[in-house]
Amino acid sequence: MKILQYLLWTNCNNSCKFCIRGDKSDAYTKTEDMLASIEKAKNNILSQDWSSYKGGMSIIGGELYYVEDRRLQLALLDLMHTASDTLLKKNDCTCLVLITNLIYNDSFLKEVLHQFEKEGVLNQVHLHTSFDLKYRYKDDNDRQLMQSNLKDLSKEFPTLNLTTQTILTQYFIDAVNSGNFSISDFEDEYHTRFTLLVPLHSNLASTLTDFFPKRRDFINFLIRLYDTNPITFRKFVDSARYAFSSKDFIDTQNDKECRPSNSVFVTSDMMKCGHYDIYRVYSDSDKCMLCDIEALCQRGGTKFE
Ligand SMILES: C[S@@+](CC[C@H](N)C(=O)[O-])C[C@H]1O[C@@H](n2cnc3c(N)ncnc32)[C@H](O)[C@@H]1O
Ligand code: SF4
Repeated sequence: MKILQYLLWTNCNNSCKFCIRGDKSDAYTKTEDMLASIEKAKNNILSQDWSSYKGGMSIIGGELYYVEDRRLQLALLDLMHTASDTLLKKNDCTCLVLITNLIYNDSFLKEVLHQFEKEGVLNQVHLHTSFDLKYRYKDDNDRQLMQSNLKDLSKEFPTLNLTTQTILTQYFIDAVNSGNFSISDFEDEYHTRFTLLVPLHSNLASTLTDFFPKRRDFINFLIRLYDTNPITFRKFVDSARYAFSSKDFIDTQNDKECRPSNSVFVTSDMMKCGHYDIYRVYSDSDKCMLCDIEALCQRGGTKFE
């Protein structure tokens, strides 16, 4: 499904070392600017003709739900209401994807979700939260806060589509291989679907040990995943293939005219294999990760070249 993603700002309450949204030096310092960015997104949603639109919408930061200023909270509630009124209520095959780190007091997020519930569209809302074993949480308290918020949400909103996304790093592969982390156990405990993301280059990512995977470890991991967690395998393949080509971005922070653009492709060169070089992400090889994924799919998960 095609997704139109509204990027409101890079402001965030966290500082993951690998963050693709950079060092946040462009984060807003004034509430007025944040309000203006929300207003721009709202006006853009209202100006579009959604009547024959078959895709979904996503509204993200940075982070949105940690904000405490009530003016910002009310403006975000109004923006979500606009998305629900113009898109979700008009067509029950569309969806709204929200992505959040859950490392905060989640009372405002719950207010947003209760509003969707009242409007009868909660089943069209997909809440994605991010969880990484390394370079995300400053300490164990943050990790526990995220996990307890996730458990609470699944209890309080049983019809909400909950997905947890983790970057497929070398550290994650090692944790699964050594039995320190189990995807199935996490899914069962937190009533969430688990998805994996291709690790991407950012300001600091290449300086982090254990972030980009070794090619052989990645391939062996995928071969095992195919057998042990076939749904997670399939979702990873889809996300690796389409995550960048099926998204248009409207960056209300930086683009005055709010033109949709596929920002990943604008900045990315093509490799010899025909894939964009965002897939050149092995720590020990220049090979294309997407080519390896396609090879595994073609060979039924049994062997690689
Ligand atoms: C930029 S964040 C914004 C939403 C929210 N702050 C969060 O972390 O969930 C959106 C997604 O990008 C992912 N992400 C950030 N840096 C990444 C990187 N270097 N490679 C792959 N995914 C990354 C995050 O894990 C998150 O799932
Ligand atoms: S929580 Fe999200 S936006 Fe914030 S630093 Fe981490 S990945 Fe980036």
